Amino acid sequence: MQDANRLDMQISIDFNNMMERFVGEHGIGDDELNEFIEKNADIAQRVNETRDNTRWRELPYNQETVVNRILEIAESVRKNYHSFVVLGIGGSALGPIAVQKALNHLRYNELSDDLRRGPKLYIEDNIDPERIRSLFDVIDIKRTMFNVITKSGSTSETMAQLLLITYMLRNCLGDNWANHVIATTDEHKGNLVKIARQFGITTLYVPDGVGGRFSELSPVGLLPAAVCGIDIKSLLDGAAYMDKLCSVDDPQKNPAFMLAALECISMKKGCNISVMMPYADSLKEMADWYAQLWAESLGKLYDKEGCVVRTGQTPVKALGVTDQHSQIQLYAEGPFDKVITFLAVDQYRALMDIPNAYDDIPDVAFLSGHTFNELIDVERRATEYALMKSRHMSKTITLPMVNEFTIGQLMMLLELQTAYAGGILNIDAFDQPGVEEGKNATYALLGKPGYEEKALELKNMPKKMKEYML
Ligand code: PA5
Repeated sequence: MQDANRLDMQISIDFNNMMERFVGEHGIGDDELNEFIEKNADIAQRVNETRDNTRWRELPYNQETVVNRILEIAESVRKNYHSFVVLGIGGSALGPIAVQKALNHLRYNELSDDLRRGPKLYIEDNIDPERIRSLFDVIDIKRTMFNVITKSGSTSETMAQLLLITYMLRNCLGDNWANHVIATTDEHKGNLVKIARQFGITTLYVPDGVGGRFSELSPVGLLPAAVCGIDIKSLLDGAAYMDKLCSVDDPQKNPAFMLAALECISMKKGCNISVMMPYADSLKEMADWYAQLWAESLGKLYDKEGCVVRTGQTPVKALGVTDQHSQIQLYAEGPFDKVITFLAVDQYRALMDIPNAYDDIPDVAFLSGHTFNELIDVERRATEYALMKSRHMSKTITLPMVNEFTIGQLMMLLELQTAYAGGILNIDAFDQPGVEEGKNATYALLGKPGYEEKALELKNMPKKMKEYML
């Protein structure tokens, strides 16, 4: 992309409505902001030094060979398969879901075969037996490629799914079953890589220092995207562009740092809830991806010195305009415990007129002659205004358009924001001990070898009492 086009496609941030001048005493004062920035000015540099956990930042620059391999695999999948099923959970699914929803046709799977740019795509991130069963009612397993994604190679949900598809593929394809599986996992650790090697399964690796929720721009997200014809080079290009914007020395010019600072100040002011509200269906799942990123990275019991801090901010997903008719009442008149981030889009990929009719009913006719594009934009600005008037903090991240380049930027921006917020809060944003506890308890309850002590701990937990049950 030409430099001028890149500039036109640069994401912008408006945080006027976070400030005291606009929302009164619940907002942030200029001095307060400046002091905070000064105090945390070296965060970006400190986060960069934790290279072992921030290798995801290098993904836009160091994957040339792997991208070419992904494009080759994707081409062959497109030619030979009718469905592509991703099996994974958490960071191994939410990124692929968000990118697909943003960049594919909004009704991708329902398009006819000649209009779709690739096979039908299913991202199966739950183990609800009914959902699993239903998948096999809509795919033809002989014409399906399964992409099993697990960084650790040991997550129970994903491994159970692998067991199931191995059984089903073997039943209908015999020895040829492994050709219908692609593994995306750690190169050195876990069981998936062992199984893949044993059966000659095509494998892509999640690089070291790239944790689950930061892995979208690795083969985790790139293969499913490429299979659907999404331009993954442009996605990485957008991520690199944002990484550079966030590499400036002046913290006030670093968009990710500023976003992190604003969220952290709002936390100090009692905003325990962070709402992300995209005004675009294509970005709805981006809010879901961000919810995991923000919650799992910042929800921590201890700080880096081992002191109990119980930090974090609860992410909430809302959709404009849909949730104007459900949640906005609470945001406007409820407690001052929320900060809202709108995701706006300047230019939608469709222009839809609102036709003229019912001239004799002015309360309806006033809509005629406008476009749905104007309507959604006006409603976003009106909601922003209403929240400002009710003295609630909000900010807006605007994408000039939803395309590969802007989605790459947005994901890198939010990943960096999260890493900087972790630095500001002095916590480890890259681990997830709370998730591990649940995973270990599952292993123990299902009798996995090595978890006998945990099983005993669970056996000795307080028994549930009848008087608390109805
Ligand atoms: O962000 C994380 O690390 C987690 O959400 C993981 O992605 C999730 O638990 C799945 O792990 P894995 O990819 O190892 O199966």
